[in-house]
Amino acid sequence: MRIVLLGPPGAGKGTLAGVLKDTLGVLHVSTGDILREELKANTPLGQEAKKFIESGGLVPDEVVTKLIKNKLTNDSRAKDGFMLDGYPRTVNQAKDLDNILDKLGMPIDCALYMEATLGTILARLTGRRVCRGCGKIYHIVNMPSKKDGVCDSCGGEIYQRADDNEETIKNRMKVYTDSTAPIISFYEGQNKLKKVNADKDSQEVKEDALNIFNGSR
Ligand code: AP5
Repeated sequence: MRIVLLGPPGAGKGTLAGVLKDTLGVLHVSTGDILREELKANTPLGQEAKKFIESGGLVPDEVVTKLIKNKLTNDSRAKDGFMLDGYPRTVNQAKDLDNILDKLGMPIDCALYMEATLGTILARLTGRRVCRGCGKIYHIVNMPSKKDGVCDSCGGEIYQRADDNEETIKNRMKVYTDSTAPIISFYEGQNKLKKVNADKDSQEVKEDALNIFNGSR
């Protein structure tokens, strides 16, 4: 299956992709994760992306679209299906993605809109923690690690993302409303949009999403 995950920051896109990628046998591609890796490695791309990520703004369309094009064209696992998390994020990116996938003969099957209320989003983002080693996502209340500060899966250090602070979250929400939310109508117009209530707990969200994906095959 070829899936786009849509939804505000903190809706649970990365969490859902993490639990479903093996079940569905698809490649999980997160532009946020790729950009943070580049930033950590201090590559030219990471240096360019830094100011956008730290302020909660968007990295320019052409930069992220090139990343996605390379990944979907060169990673042979993409042929078996993929789940895009954090891309597209503007209507231009959605159009670019359609062009890339048309050429590859791999159109999107389903765009899943993960609807979440503001209270949920704020509680999730301020409580989120991530493993520096394997990227596993935790939450200090909803999904804590067994041992404080240590990843259950790889033993890596658990940290708080630099953009998960109140000021940056406010800007990310504004950017989402202004630039990303219009993509919902874009996929509605293509009859590919499905919705899930992302306020529910992660087990319920996973089951609802699986039912939707199984019905879209
Ligand atoms: P990115 O990393 O994509 O951030 P985001 O879209 O803001 O999404 P998040 O990662 O914050 O949230 P999520 O929905 O994945 O939630 P999660 O599963 O972690 O992008 C970061 C930056 O990179 C952007 O600001 C931008 O600068 C740049 N960028 C990336 N892509 C770009 C693009 N295409 N164009 C331009 N710029 C781009 O869950 C959140 C928390 O909630 C976790 O703690 C989790 O444990 C918990 N949780 C999740 N689901 C549940 C549940 N159902 N119940 C209880 N708790 C839950």
